[in-house]
Amino acid sequence: MNNYRLNINGQQQNVRAESDTPLLWILRDALGLFGTKFGCGMGLCGACTVHLDGSAMRSCLLPVSAVGGQIITTIEGLGSQEQHPLQKAWCEHDVAQCGYCQSGQIMTAAALLKENPSPTDDQISEAMAGNICRCGTYPRIRIAIKDAARKMGGKS
Ligand code: FES
Ligand code: FES
Repeated sequence: MNNYRLNINGQQQNVRAESDTPLLWILRDALGLFGTKFGCGMGLCGACTVHLDGSAMRSCLLPVSAVGGQIITTIEGLGSQEQHPLQKAWCEHDVAQCGYCQSGQIMTAAALLKENPSPTDDQISEAMAGNICRCGTYPRIRIAIKDAARKMGGKS
């Protein structure tokens, strides 16, 4: 077991874990941040997506020892002061069905809009391709991303 000091949602968190423990386990089991979901555990579904220094990352495959001083943001930290425009758009367009995949979907979409404020349909498809939704909410996800991009000043 080793000690790790992680920067999560603007707070320093001290955790003790084996070096190969996935970040997802730390978030959910050690810190009670249950918004990030466990789906496949193999990097295939996107349910566990968080941001590392602003980039979307699969936390189920990321060993805690590889995080270092990078800034981790989870869905709980994305709209901690005020809802992120994507979260508002998700509500306005009733995107979620069962909801299980949605925090990962929003985190991937947020990283996309940060990098590309006005993504085309193809760019949205490419960026979101790794986030699986068994309920088939893809059309509403696309509408919500485009709406949020518009409201954030992009032209999508
Ligand atoms: S749980 Fe991480 S990609 Fe599926
Ligand atoms: S809303 Fe059910 S898996 Fe996406």
